Amino acid sequence: MKYIIANLKMNPEKREDMEGWMKQFRAAAVERDGTHVIACPPFIWLPLVASHNTVAVGAQDVFWEQKGPYTGEVSPSMLRSVGCDYVIVGHSERRALGETNEIIRKKIKAALQAGLKVILAVGESARANERGTLEREIGPAVEEQLAGALSGISRTKLGNLLIAYEPLWAVGSGTADTPEDALKAALFIRKCVSKITGAHARAQEVPVLYGGSVTSKNAASFLEEEALQGVLVGNASLDAREFLKIVEAGSNHSY
Ligand code: PGA
Repeated sequence: MKYIIANLKMNPEKREDMEGWMKQFRAAAVERDGTHVIACPPFIWLPLVASHNTVAVGAQDVFWEQKGPYTGEVSPSMLRSVGCDYVIVGHSERRALGETNEIIRKKIKAALQAGLKVILAVGESARANERGTLEREIGPAVEEQLAGALSGISRTKLGNLLIAYEPLWAVGSGTADTPEDALKAALFIRKCVSKITGAHARAQEVPVLYGGSVTSKNAASFLEEEALQGVLVGNASLDAREFLKIVEAGSNHSY
């Protein structure tokens, strides 16, 4: 199974454009061939996307309380009630706005409790050295994010967790990671999940996806890796035709 996820970020601006995006999808074309397509639009378009009944629906964020006086927040049970099955938690763009590991942990716990499946995003930054090449150290940064997010998670809930490896320097930059390095990251991530949760067999089953400047041109190189279970697509998902090409690449490489 390959997960092909559209993170539409703060797009589209108009309702008719969201309608137009959805119309490009035909139910039959999407769920065939072992791909699972998930559209993650902004909160306000969730009911509209869910009403088309062609792709699975995910939110881009969630609050950690189920009820209460929290102006501006959206609870996990509200997401469930409009037809959402997934939620992205810990995206780097939200971490940049101040989201801490502690907040991420609370959101994951609440989302799982409400029956949502969580797409946890993790990834390291990099700095350019004097020769202009990127120096990255995936180990400590990603392990810390995983430990912060997953400590105390019930082993039985691991089946509802997906992890998106999104190196910060690749998100929105036009420069994707190499499939080889993304693969190494996926193996490392599963090892960390196993260590943090103690659930060794279940950790191996957690789907790990790659995200960061995925396009229809490079998607296949990630999707053909057996240890990567899909891609999380940002900018390239805004154009439905481009996104459909990525979905097609997923069906060619699912098994
Ligand atoms: P990008 O974004 O594909 O535009 O790099 C990925 C993401 O935001 O998840």
